[in-house]
Amino acid sequence: MDIKAIAGDITRVEAGAVVVNLFEGVERPGGATGAADSALGGAISRLIAEGEIQGKKGEVTVIHTLGRIPPARVVVAGLGKREAFSADVVRQVMGVICRRLREAGVERVATILHGAGIGGLGVSESAQAVAEGGLLGLYTFKRHFTKSEGKDIKEMTVVETDASRLPAIREALERGRVVAEAAILARDMVNEPSNFMTPTHIADIARQVAQEHGLEITVLDRPQMEGLGMGGLLGVARGSDEPPKFIVLRYQGDPSNPGNNLGLLGKGITFDTGSISLKPAAGMEAMKGDMAGAASVISAIKAIAQLKPKINVTAIAAATENMPGGSAQKPGDVVRSMGGKTIEVENTDAEGRLVLADALGYARQAGLRRLVDVATLTGAMRVALGDYCTGAFTNNQELLNAVVQAGEKAGERIWQLPMYEEYKEQNRSQVADVKNTGGAKAGAITAALFLAEFSEDTPWVHLDIAGTSMTDKEGGYLVKGATGVPVRTLINLALDLAEG
Ligand code: BES
Ligand code: MN
Ligand code: ZN
Repeated sequence: MDIKAIAGDITRVEAGAVVVNLFEGVERPGGATGAADSALGGAISRLIAEGEIQGKKGEVTVIHTLGRIPPARVVVAGLGKREAFSADVVRQVMGVICRRLREAGVERVATILHGAGIGGLGVSESAQAVAEGGLLGLYTFKRHFTKSEGKDIKEMTVVETDASRLPAIREALERGRVVAEAAILARDMVNEPSNFMTPTHIADIARQVAQEHGLEITVLDRPQMEGLGMGGLLGVARGSDEPPKFIVLRYQGDPSNPGNNLGLLGKGITFDTGSISLKPAAGMEAMKGDMAGAASVISAIKAIAQLKPKINVTAIAAATENMPGGSAQKPGDVVRSMGGKTIEVENTDAEGRLVLADALGYARQAGLRRLVDVATLTGAMRVALGDYCTGAFTNNQELLNAVVQAGEKAGERIWQLPMYEEYKEQNRSQVADVKNTGGAKAGAITAALFLAEFSEDTPWVHLDIAGTSMTDKEGGYLVKGATGVPVRTLINLALDLAEG
């Protein structure tokens, strides 16, 4: 989809549809909505008076203009209550409307900048949200269908009355595209079945990202991991015929200041059978998405490389399958992680924390001073917070606050959970420094406390995206399948830390 901005009058553009808006409770629309209302002889205000248009969030009213004005349809988007309005409402509204118009066969959509006037958003903020919402909402994953339907919106045009705003709008639309395309890469990777999205394939994608955007890349294979003593990752990889890959991408936005850095670490289990502690069959297919953490850090650094903040960012993806092959590790085995700590593998299905132990060890050894790991780590996280928010844990409140704020701007909700001392004893082992399961209670917390053993004194945030990386509902700019969470949060974080 082409996205552009022009100066002009929304009621006079040649398009399949023009999108205007209404806040809840407004009876006499002004601005562009008012102009559309006048051009249609008061049709919009009449529909408001009759109660058909209320301006509720997510409400979409399609008015066919039947030749009265050049655009074939005027779409009135409900923006909801003014107090509850945000850039995320703009993303959601654009997602819903673009899908609806695609369904109607519309190829060219024009829109105003929602909320940039009375909504209180900046022009850039609104423009970026319009682009992100449209692109993310129209996302489909159709690679494996042999027939295509062929309906696509080809063009989205922002129409702005004030020509002096166009440069800022165009820049923001481009930023929106970069950010959305990063989230879309993550969605594609997560949706891709595990027979395609192997650790080797993830490494190939990372190489392509590196080449396109000028990043340094290192891909460690099994012998190199052995050399570094990555017993956690290698233990998990033992049961699989697919070679594991440890992928490191580096963006140097502040090369003269190497300490100004951020490490993004992703769990990259390309399929999680549970291995010898085998998972039940029902729903196991969802475990192709157990590499969502790895997908999100690779995707985030792709956008970071394009947006060029003044900070050094390293993305690390620890990729392997978790399979019950003949050489698989077994419950009760003890492995030694990169940092030297020993781990009793009480349950082979708690594999994410094993590979992350080595990723954290590697990151610390590489001199990374702030770490954020992203992982579909525990079923317990989904039980605790469900689908609508990511769980966060930290040893550094300041860094966590920055992550939460970056998430708020992205419309990706993040909620902190505690890491009280008392839970730690659940991870105590009789035979090794720590064990990889903490019993039935507080499973997301004991998993985080396990990781804390390996982040040690480095400021670190752990994001458990087990509930948020995929969705089974279409809504706003999300469609069924992978969500791309928390790619846009990670991008915002790098931008915010660079400013500070
Ligand atoms: N990948 C799973 C967690 C998961 C479950 C993610 C459902 C998304 C949806 C993880 O590797 C796992 O199996 N965790 C175990 C840990 C337990 C054995 C301590 C779990 O949550 O049951
Ligand atoms: Mn598992
Ligand atoms: Zn897993």
